[in-house]
Amino acid sequence: MNADGRGRLDQTPEWTALAKHREELTGTHLRDLFAADPERGDQYTLQVGDLYIDYSKHLVTVETLRLLRELAAATDVFGLRDAMFRGERINVTENRAVLHTALRAPRDAVIEVDVENVVPKVHQVLDRMGDFARRVRSGEWTGHTGRRIRNVVNIGIGGSDLGPAMAYEVLRAWTDRELTVRFVSNVDGADLHEATRDLDPAETLFIVASKTFTTIETITNATSARDWLVAGLGGEEKAVARHFVALSTNAEKVAAFGIDTANMFEFWDWVGGRYSYDSAIGLSLMIAIGPERFGEMLDGFRLVDDHFRDAPAESNVPLLLGLLGVWYGNFFDAQTHAVLPYSHYLSKFTAYLQQLDMESNGKSVQRDGEPVEWQTGPVVWGTPGTNGQHAYYQLLHQGTKLIPADLIGFANPVAELSGELKAQHDLLMANLFAQGQALAFGKTAEEVRAEGVPEEQVPHRTFHGNHPTTTILATELTPSVLGQLIALYEHKVFVQGAIWNIDSFDQWGVELGKVLAKRVEPALTEGGEVEGLDGSTRGLVRRYRALRGR
Ligand code: F6P
Repeated sequence: MNADGRGRLDQTPEWTALAKHREELTGTHLRDLFAADPERGDQYTLQVGDLYIDYSKHLVTVETLRLLRELAAATDVFGLRDAMFRGERINVTENRAVLHTALRAPRDAVIEVDVENVVPKVHQVLDRMGDFARRVRSGEWTGHTGRRIRNVVNIGIGGSDLGPAMAYEVLRAWTDRELTVRFVSNVDGADLHEATRDLDPAETLFIVASKTFTTIETITNATSARDWLVAGLGGEEKAVARHFVALSTNAEKVAAFGIDTANMFEFWDWVGGRYSYDSAIGLSLMIAIGPERFGEMLDGFRLVDDHFRDAPAESNVPLLLGLLGVWYGNFFDAQTHAVLPYSHYLSKFTAYLQQLDMESNGKSVQRDGEPVEWQTGPVVWGTPGTNGQHAYYQLLHQGTKLIPADLIGFANPVAELSGELKAQHDLLMANLFAQGQALAFGKTAEEVRAEGVPEEQVPHRTFHGNHPTTTILATELTPSVLGQLIALYEHKVFVQGAIWNIDSFDQWGVELGKVLAKRVEPALTEGGEVEGLDGSTRGLVRRYRALRGR
């Protein structure tokens, strides 16, 4: 029994029943499941908002799903969900509420943290953002020299970069094409250099995005950006006020950096960095797509929030997706999960999900500090599907690993496409459907032989199949659909963390590297002290210094 009163997860009757059931399913092929139930392709589906979810190509039966839901009930997933929505401090190691859902709550909602209703301040900031975004988009907000802002550069990293950078790509067809919007995250000076080398400082707005405003990469890049701007505007320090705004929870640090807090858009410690792009962190996106479209995106988030909070277990999509991940990770030893969007616009989608999922559930102790005795979060990976088909899908089809995958596609191409480019959409989607089919059903040796393939080649050209996929089919890539998709994955991650009994909302694991980088940096300079370093690092530092002539 844990300190929090939970029995050991992998010794609960629900877990044991699943393990037994998994043994019984050994040797079952998706071909068998479909043959036994001609309705399977229609019945193993759910709909939430604009998202149609086909989970028929999973190695599950009605019994599997029942047992998985029993595990969810035994681990009180819905209890923790309700505590999250109520604003309880479920981020136990940081003693914080987890209220990204409040960021998209309607104006009249009441969500309290320590008896304060946080919804009015959410909308106050959204209104300020909307006002600012309109002024930039209309040209009313000008730079120091009176010129219109034509370039927006967001400087941030992790949750202060990946969300807006991803969403900007996803919604490119909805953006003001007259504006250049770029994202700088890497402390490698090349990132800022490439982002600014062809920009005119007089027309450039920097958005410094950092929850803590202490992140070394962001502060370093922001300082360099300020130097670039001031130098480009004749050494005018005053110019900073018209060209820099901040997104942060830390007004003191923003002021210390030299940005007027009147130009700061606030969010709060109950918004985790990787759950923050629909907060003030989304300002660059809002400038790009406009406040109305941003509002539609929030509506999409809210639609899935409401579904997650209210839908019964049997039709609750985030619950289902979370449980399927547990099924493969804990009962089939799947180590990774592929996310394969069939949309060029979703090129950064998986990178975004990597932080969301891996920073949330890459944990090996339980909420009370006891080690976990079971697998937790998977490695999440993937790129747009058609490109992946000509790269790593070989391993998905014929490798030795079980890799569950999400295939994401849209019924309609974006409205901007016309003529032949629009017509290409069918080919794109045909690839999505074909891959799901090939992964699930493969091609038997008999089928290969029937094609007249020489016997010695038959094993090489046989596809075992039985690779599980979820297909997520949406009507169209709109701001609302993006919000729906992100909320779906946020809550899926939540479900898994709840079952594994880990704190999905802290990220202590990133601290050590940060601390060590600060210690190593002085050793890189001429005469720097290397003696405190371990043997390998000392050798590398000496080699580095020699190569740099230090
Ligand atoms: O180092 C990890 C992390 O703390 C992330 O969780 C966060 O999104 C990122 O750094 C950036 O942090 P900040 O927004 O405070 O600059």
